[in-house]
Amino acid sequence: MSLRYGKEFLMIPGPTNVPDEVLRAMHRPAVDIYEGPLLETTDFCLKSLRKLFQTEGKTYIYAANGHGAWDSAVCNTLNRGDKILVLESGRFALGWGEASAIAGLDVEILPGGWDRGVDPAKLEARLREDKAHEIAAILVVQVDTASGVWNDIAALRRAIDAAGHPALYMVDTIASLGCMPFEMDAWGVDVALTGSQKGLMCPPGLSFVAAGPKADKAHETADLRTNYTDWTFRQGAEHYQKYCGTPPEHLLFGFRKALELLFDEGLEQVWQRHALLGEATRRAVETWSSAGAVQFNVADSAARSNSVTVVRLNSGDASALRTFTKEVCGVTVGGTIGELSGQGIRIAHMGHVNAVMLLGTLSAIELGLKQLDIPHGTGGTQAAIDYLAEAL
Ligand SMILES: Cc1ncc(COP(=O)(O)O)c(C=O)c1O
Repeated sequence: MSLRYGKEFLMIPGPTNVPDEVLRAMHRPAVDIYEGPLLETTDFCLKSLRKLFQTEGKTYIYAANGHGAWDSAVCNTLNRGDKILVLESGRFALGWGEASAIAGLDVEILPGGWDRGVDPAKLEARLREDKAHEIAAILVVQVDTASGVWNDIAALRRAIDAAGHPALYMVDTIASLGCMPFEMDAWGVDVALTGSQKGLMCPPGLSFVAAGPKADKAHETADLRTNYTDWTFRQGAEHYQKYCGTPPEHLLFGFRKALELLFDEGLEQVWQRHALLGEATRRAVETWSSAGAVQFNVADSAARSNSVTVVRLNSGDASALRTFTKEVCGVTVGGTIGELSGQGIRIAHMGHVNAVMLLGTLSAIELGLKQLDIPHGTGGTQAAIDYLAEAL
């Protein structure tokens, strides 16, 4: 018996739900790329990105997914053979490091775990050892979408300062911007980047980079610069230069609408919504975990993100659970990836998501745990409700 027919939910950690308003904003005829509404839209988007990243720095828009933004960050600021330090806390900083190695950089990994945030003390110790200041850049993600880890970007900055190290500090906020606070300038981040398809509620296909003054300075002598990503060309006076070619106009109209939705709700309110839904999810998982089979991936409760919760199953079939929630209940939850592949589920609570969607998803998972005889503490969804009842 299936109960899936009705509005289906997509609760994976990207791409996320695209609001109808955003879809409608894209449903329009093509426009001139040399004059008219597109020019003003570009201006609005570039300025709004400053607000999102909380920076006075320069912002750039790429017709690319997050991998394009990764390339932009390193190729615009570094030289062939430069050493970079990648801070491990899951899959994605490592992926950025792999991309950087292909670009010509010498990649060192600061080993970490998938179950905890990057340790600032460990970073400080490694940087103190680098007396010759060979490390040119430090790469980290604010949230790792594979592990569910949240990294304390301000604390890591303090560690870099404590070591007195001059490396550029680069942060991937693809799974966090628009879901939780990020203060590029206040936290001393030199390059920040994100993508359109998670907290920013748009289809995949756009990515964004912000660069502060230290990154601008490094750009002047960087020899890894590429035509498509080049910041200098993109600062040119012609509108097409902002995109190094034809602007992805429909995606831009959608992005503009998404920004308006975020600003209408209010960024603080958006972060608060994610904080409440994230904690409600954690209350449910905590309750389920009391029987031993269900477990948080992130052991350190302070390092669990407000955008995605990664859950491991010590017994029971994670794939069967996902099939159940999708085929019987009509909600797609994420599967685990990388070294956790096949071992659990990822419950996304990022982007255009409300209490109904989250509570419905938790209910479907709990029903699945029951139907599939996966040992779990009962009342997880009730615990989420009880938490929200108190917190609202
Ligand atoms: C934290 C993080 N960084 C980078 C990426 C890569 O982005 P994309 O798949 O858009 O290239 C992802 C994708 O999920 C991600 O979650």
